[in-house]
Amino acid sequence: MPVVKVSDMAFVRMNAPDLGKAEQFLLDFGMSTVERTPKALYMRGTDPDPFIEVVHLGEARVLSSAWYVDHVDDLKRVSQVPGATGIENLDEPGGGKRVQLTDPLGYKVEFICDRTPAKAMPTEPAQLNLAWEPLVRKTLQRFDRRPSRVKRIAHFVVSTPEVKKTLAWYREMLGLVRSEDIYEDDPENLIGSFNRVDQGEDYVDHHAFFCRYAPNQGMNHVSFEVQDIDDVMLGHDHLKSQGYRPMWGVGRHFLGSQVFDYWCDPWGRVHEHWTDSDRLNIQGGLGLLSKKQAFKSQWGPAGPKEFHDWATP
Ligand SMILES: [Fe+2]
Repeated sequence: MPVVKVSDMAFVRMNAPDLGKAEQFLLDFGMSTVERTPKALYMRGTDPDPFIEVVHLGEARVLSSAWYVDHVDDLKRVSQVPGATGIENLDEPGGGKRVQLTDPLGYKVEFICDRTPAKAMPTEPAQLNLAWEPLVRKTLQRFDRRPSRVKRIAHFVVSTPEVKKTLAWYREMLGLVRSEDIYEDDPENLIGSFNRVDQGEDYVDHHAFFCRYAPNQGMNHVSFEVQDIDDVMLGHDHLKSQGYRPMWGVGRHFLGSQVFDYWCDPWGRVHEHWTDSDRLNIQGGLGLLSKKQAFKSQWGPAGPKEFHDWATP
């Protein structure tokens, strides 16, 4: 039995030495500013989560991933784990309660509940005249040149030489379940594992946590859902026009099947846009694929070598 079953990601927490630069990147990436103090920057998407990325002033590094639990009783269970903090009130936008653990890489993992949601931001569902439905839109399509509109935070990916140990920890503490595993040469030689949250019969994203082998440990990327495929492409053009470093995209993944696009923030932390994920409930998953099968794109470019070993502290 896992300690708890988290229901979704809540936010990612990082340090950066220049909050102005951090804010500009995240605005260009498609988030909106909630609050900026001399020491911290809070950014949100269009969903009601009070914030989905927080950047503190400090030497560039990733601090934690944060995950929702349903009830304060879940926090009580986490607080019994050796090394856990007690239950504390979160003095940040949306408030809430928190318990923290430290994962095998040394990152904090924050378990959160009772946040006060913000108001969802308005979005315009795309109207597309597709082959099988040619008259959905009877007006002219005119997109403004603009950043993507990030909807929500979706998954967190770590690189580590210790895949099995890290995976076991996340499954036990967060109640994550295997969606698809990846091996190299021998099926026993696990080099990566896509895991999703366990919400029983309810369908969830194909993965909320991906643990992959790399010689160095660190965050491989953090990922955010955007509105639709036009939104991915508009964001791609915008980030390119602002001179940011592209990492990989645009393409459609094989595992999870999202249309993806990866960009580095000014300190090399990879942020992903995606849309149109596979969704699974507790009945799905349990795939086992070779590295060659797993890391191909359904369309678009193959992943660059540097991305597969990417690990920012
Ligand atoms: Fe991803």
